[in-house]
Amino acid sequence: MSTIAVTGAASGIGAATSTRLEALGHRVVRVDRGIGDIAADLGTKTGRDTMLTEMARLAPNGLDGVVAAAGISAPERPCETISINYFGAVATLEGLRPLLARRPGSRAVAIGSTSALLPTDGATVEACLRADESQATHEIAARPDTAYMTSKIALTRWMRRAAIAPQWAGAGILLNGVAPGVVETAMTAPLLQDDKMLALIALSNPMAVAGFARPEEIAELIVYLLTFEGHYLLGQMIFIVGGTEAIMRPDSF
Ligand code: NAI
Repeated sequence: MSTIAVTGAASGIGAATSTRLEALGHRVVRVDRGIGDIAADLGTKTGRDTMLTEMARLAPNGLDGVVAAAGISAPERPCETISINYFGAVATLEGLRPLLARRPGSRAVAIGSTSALLPTDGATVEACLRADESQATHEIAARPDTAYMTSKIALTRWMRRAAIAPQWAGAGILLNGVAPGVVETAMTAPLLQDDKMLALIALSNPMAVAGFARPEEIAELIVYLLTFEGHYLLGQMIFIVGGTEAIMRPDSF
């Protein structure tokens, strides 16, 4: 039996991933804000420290997998968006890496987004990659409308750099990412009930198929990245977007 940590496990993609993993016989340590095996606010240093301490207690023999799914989409809270979606995710993945290193063939998955293809703020991305949370939240305050997209492009770039590093691939830990399009979860429910937002989504997320994704469909891909046989798949942010990425940048390959 594998032991896998999932953040954002109380809802949406994290919940669907946890349920699927448990159905396959894995043990899941669920992390979320105020609920789960570990209740921690990953947008704060205290919450991140609590998560790491509690995880070491609950998984003393190490972790076979980590899924960093906790995230928010809140245009009115740009600093919190950066702190949770980027710094919380990186603190989870990097902070739990020593537990992953204790188990052979361990895996980790970051959750990006197709929105990373939209306009983002370069200064914030640079501050994120320098691990300067104070500067990153200062920078994003000047371009709050880009906070969500910026958090996801920064996380994607961090993931690609980390995945090939000695402490990840070199230590036998495969790190990848999943970049969903529009998924029917609590995060998007208010948007998907609003005709104006639906029209905007149709413009920003053109798709080759009808309808939006269910969280279970995203969970299938995450579970694959946690369990596939082999050692060659790493550093990839895999789009699961109904064709949006191919429509938006057909020749970018
Ligand atoms: P959701 O709102 O259904 O679930 C997110 C979970 O993260 C919630 O249980 C929430 O309590 C938890 N969370 C939020 N802030 C937290 C914090 N500070 N500390 C600990 N837990 C926290 O959302 P959904 O859609 O399942 O999102 C999961 C991930 O997928 C997020 O990273 C999101 O950005 C990403 N994503 C979602 C898409 C969508 O269309 N729903 C599209 C692309 C990416």
